[in-house]
Amino acid sequence: MSTNAVEIRQLRSVFTVAGREFIIHEQLDLDIPNGALMSIVGGSGSGKTVLLRQILGLEHATQGRVTVLGKPASQLGRAGAASRVGMLFQHGALFSAFTVLENIAFPLRELNTLPASLIRDVAMVKLQMVGLDPSHAHKMPAALSGGMVKRVALARALVMDPPLLLLDEPTSGLDPDSADEFCVLLRSLHRELALTVVMVTHDLDTLFELSTHVAVVADKHIVACGAPTEVIAGSHPFIHDFFQGARGQRAAALLHPPGPAR
Ligand SMILES: Nc1ncnc2c1ncn2[C@@H]1O[C@H](COP(=O)(O)OP(=O)(O)OP(=O)(O)O)[C@@H](O)[C@H]1O
Ligand SMILES: [Mg+2]
Repeated sequence: MSTNAVEIRQLRSVFTVAGREFIIHEQLDLDIPNGALMSIVGGSGSGKTVLLRQILGLEHATQGRVTVLGKPASQLGRAGAASRVGMLFQHGALFSAFTVLENIAFPLRELNTLPASLIRDVAMVKLQMVGLDPSHAHKMPAALSGGMVKRVALARALVMDPPLLLLDEPTSGLDPDSADEFCVLLRSLHRELALTVVMVTHDLDTLFELSTHVAVVADKHIVACGAPTEVIAGSHPFIHDFFQGARGQRAAALLHPPGPAR
């Protein structure tokens, strides 16, 4: 089996809007090793969310190959996808008419193969796995704090025990303390569940706190990929602006030596 959870080769992504073609990715190559916690950074509109959606199999490549856990991403299928890849969406809305527990259970209920009592038990375990007290199980999403919403969305992404977790801006909109707590949770889940995690983030503290690898999207492809210390030393103008500004310098000062990929 490949040592990479995700392999992307010569990806080209094109959207046609009102008869006009917009090229989002061109000649994009990326390997995400098994067990890595890779952060993907890039400017707004550079195609980070589209890339995650392609790994999830929701969006298909115009050209090129996206291989996920040894299979083409396009073959994941809707039901299969949740057991192989979990995703925390950028605007990770929960279903507002469902309780916390119903939200977490949703992918299992859709499968339509397990008894309701087992689904409930599994969802309860996941609720506690993301650090929430069982007393929140029957709350509606509107009654939760921002940090709790992210945790519930994370529990939903992990409900089928996928080996690969995709996170799109997991700490955006959280206050610094909640973002720190969410980082601690992600780090422990990454370790304890032996997950491969791919995280899009603008948050440099989160990035330096968690990443074993960093990939930079610019000019429609990956312009740098590797250990955080290597990537931030790159010469691409985006890397310079993003990492070597005052905020980047401050966050980089906290940089831990990158851990080994597990
Ligand atoms: N379904 C679609 N149809 C047409 N264009 C799309 C579609 N999805 C995304 N795009 C375009 O692709 C480009 C990349 O979008 P994407 O959402 O991946 O950016 P991003 O890097 O995630 O940005 P941000 O950091 O702001 O979230 C944008 O120009 C967007 O308008
Ligand atoms: Mg995005």
